[in-house]
Formats: sequence, structure tokens, C-alpha cells
Amino acid sequence: MAGSIRRDVGYSRSMGHDDRPRTLRAGMVGLGMIFDETYRPFFEHAANEGLYSRVAGPVAVELAAVATRTGDRAERYRTTAPPGQRAYASFTGAGAAAELAATDVDAVCVATPDDRHFDAALTALYAGKHTLIEKPSVLSLGELDRLVEVARANGVLAKVVYHKLLDPDHKKLRTHVVDGALRHVNNGYCSLLEPKSIAGGQFAEWIAGRNPGTYVAVHYLKLIDFTFGSEMRLARIAATGQRGIVGTAAGNTWDSVQLQVTYAYPDGREATFDIHTSWVTPDNFPGYVDQEVQFRFDNGVWIAHQRKRGVEVCIEGRTPNELKNTPNHHYNGSFMEPWGERSQRGYGIETIGRFFEEVAFVEFGGPASERPERLSQMRALTYNDLAADRNCVGIVQALEAILAEHAVGRPGCSVTVNSAAGGLVLHRPGEAVRTVLYAPPV
Ligand SMILES: NC(=O)c1ccc[n+]([C@@H]2O[C@H](COP(=O)([O-])OP(=O)(O)OC[C@H]3O[C@@H](n4cnc5c(N)ncnc54)[C@H](O)[C@@H]3O)[C@@H](O)[C@H]2O)c1
Repeated sequence: MAGSIRRDVGYSRSMGHDDRPRTLRAGMVGLGMIFDETYRPFFEHAANEGLYSRVAGPVAVELAAVATRTGDRAERYRTTAPPGQRAYASFTGAGAAAELAATDVDAVCVATPDDRHFDAALTALYAGKHTLIEKPSVLSLGELDRLVEVARANGVLAKVVYHKLLDPDHKKLRTHVVDGALRHVNNGYCSLLEPKSIAGGQFAEWIAGRNPGTYVAVHYLKLIDFTFGSEMRLARIAATGQRGIVGTAAGNTWDSVQLQVTYAYPDGREATFDIHTSWVTPDNFPGYVDQEVQFRFDNGVWIAHQRKRGVEVCIEGRTPNELKNTPNHHYNGSFMEPWGERSQRGYGIETIGRFFEEVAFVEFGGPASERPERLSQMRALTYNDLAADRNCVGIVQALEAILAEHAVGRPGCSVTVNSAAGGLVLHRPGEAVRTVLYAPPV
């Protein structure tokens, strides 16, 4: 259980919260690029400002412990973190995540490479810590089932980061759908192209056998599933991809992936989405990441570009490498605020803050006797709860299986969802024998 949380300050609904801040101690597994972009600015801001809500009152958040492979980044950050925020414990090596989970942290954030999320998250949940996992949460439904089960048994939250759901443009898209302004999506495409520096530099250590679809298509899988999924059921998955730049032409490391996902409405109509991803775009591309979507409805079309939102900038000697020509300031930007403060803000950071607000609500948002009700309320938030990640994880598991078949000379496989043969069933072209990837319903 989350026994380490300092709930010693009595709470009485009639009196409201008292003014002494309660504290959430956080552990961070993985201190790579995404830590630097989103978690670091959140922790640095929260250390100064804390969190506040009417029901939970003031809540302090502190980065208490970190776990990394070698410890180099942990020590490097200790030299640059704001004074007063450098005292975190640092664990290294193969057992680092488990050692971190054994400390008195209240919540653990997992931002290791995607095929290393499961073990770190499982040890955190076993230790009774609220857990936040970077996308893609895990790579198979069996792993997802296990994490959800342990989180439930131990009375803690298990959540996943899908920051694109907090992008104001995507919120507006969903608002139009919820309000019935845009009706009945029929098809669409999304593309997300990462620079070569990701595949060749930053991820070089762990990229063997990996693909950009699992890494980034999940952003759009969740956008589609969360925005449109309540009216239809997941039906089929197909995928193909290209090799030869990051790895060999016949190997199992992918340069680019095209994923196709089909949903079915109860009346038999279908909706199909194509999601194209790559991590071999030239580094002198004018934006950090190229991202666009197009969704076609019975009564409308939604076309959005996450990079070309209106700003175009050129600075001699700095764009397009150090700075980009078409930046996305909504995701994450450093600003001089009108009131003179420096800040770093955006939906990429806001989503981390939301997780800690949800933890604060569970732990401090009312009397201990009502904690189970608060926990249920936060678990019912399908935008980030792990239990609501079934379709995305199912698609990722299918994609990984289809690409694995392709890599051993059997391209063109597809996966059906919730047929009589099982939850996820792999079909090879021209072969009657099927492989059940996941037997229970997805
Ligand atoms: N939300 C987003 O848009 C977004 C963007 C980039 C990355 N990510 C996700 O974040 C995760 C990390 O990506 P990144 O770009 O920061 O990677 P990275 O390669 O820059 O950093 C990985 C970090 O994990 C640590 N690590 C590796 N194995 C470990 C282990 N077994 N135990 C403890 N620490 C370990 C490394 O020491 C390093 O600090 C991935 O799952 C990725 O999909 C999300």
C-alpha cells in the first residue's frame, strides 16, 4: 500500500484543509531526453511553487530519488539542478529501479526505453507506489494485465503519459466530437516524422530490433481511440515498414513504419486510420518533428498541422539545426513571461503535473475513509489510466508481431481483434494456420 505518504496532517471536511503543506516524494526511473524536456521543468517548478487545489490544499512535490543505467546523467543533473534540489538519491545498474522502489518515495515515473518500462513499473507498483509510465506503456496485453492487477491489489494509481490529448487543438477536436458537431469519423491519416539524430544518436544504444511505430504512432493511436473509440470497436491491424538506414536491409531494426488500424461501428460501417512514422528524417528539417493529422467525417473534415501553427522563424547561423524554422511552442517552450519571470511550459509538462495532482487528490483530497472513492474517481479517467490503454497496447503488440514476421521473411501479416479465435490473432498471407497473440478479449 502507499503507506509512506505523509498523511499525518488531519483532515476534516467541515474545517477544510489545514495550511501546512503535505509532501509527495517522487522517484524518476530514466533521466534521458524526455526527463529533460518535461519532468525536469515540472519538478523544478513544483519545488518552488508546489501544487494547490481547494480540496487537497497546498502539496509540496520533491524529486527524492532517481534510477539510471550508469548514473552519469544523474550526477550531471546534480550540477545543474537549482540549488536545494540536488539532494536526490541516485541508484544505478541493473537493480536501480527496484532499489528506488524500495525507498520511501510516494510516486514513481518510468521513462526508460519502451521495452524496459514493464519491469520498472512492476517493481514500483509492487512496492505500493503510484506509477506514471511514458508512452507506449508496455508492449503486450499480458504485461498490461499484470500491472493493472498489481496496482488494484495495492491501492495505487497506474497511469500513462499521452500528452497529445492535452494539445489545445486535439482538445477542440474532441470537443467537436463530444458535442456532435463533427459526426461519424470514416477515415484519416496521421504522420509523425522524427529526425535521424534520434535513431542514430540519442537512441543508438537501444535501437536494435526497435521500430518508430511503437515509439511514436502510439501518440496518434491514443488520440484516435480516446476521441472516436467510444462509438466503435477495434477490428483489424496491418503494418509494413522500411529498413536499410538505421540497420541492415533485411534486419529487424526499422527506419519507418506504416500502420493501418480499422475500427467497426455497430451497424457494420468501418473507420480506417493510417499512421506513418519515421526516425530517419534529415536533421536539417525545419521542425524538430513533423506531425500532421487529417480526419474525415460524415459531415466534415479536420486538418491540423502540429508544426506549422503559424510561426516561421529564421535566425542566421542557428536555424534549422540548433533552432527550428517552424517550432511547436504549445508542446514545450521556454519563455520570458510578461511579468518578467523565466518559465518553461506547455502541454508536455502539464500532463506530468496532472498526474501529481491526481495523486494529491487521492492522498490528501479528503478523509482517509474516503480514499477508495477518490482512487476510483482518478482511475475512471480514461485519458491516462493504464486500464484504459488496452486498445493502444493491443495495437502495439500486433504491430511488433507483424514486423517480427516481416523481418524473418513473412511480410504482409495482419491481426484481427476479438474474433472467435481470440483477442489478438495473427494471420499470415496464404496460410490457414493462425497464431493467437492474446487469447482473452482485448
Ligand atoms: N512523451 C513523449 O513525447 C516522449 C518523447 C520522447 C520519449 N518518450 C518516451 O520516454 C522514454 C524514454 O525516452 P528518452 O527519449 O528519454 O530516452 P533516452 O535514451 O534519452 O533515456 C533513457 C534513460 O533511461 C535510462 N535507463 C535505461 N535502461 C534503464 C534501466 N534498466 N533502469 C533504469 N534506467 C534505465 C538511461 O540511463 C537513460 O537515463 C521512452 O519510453 C520514450 O518512448 C516520450
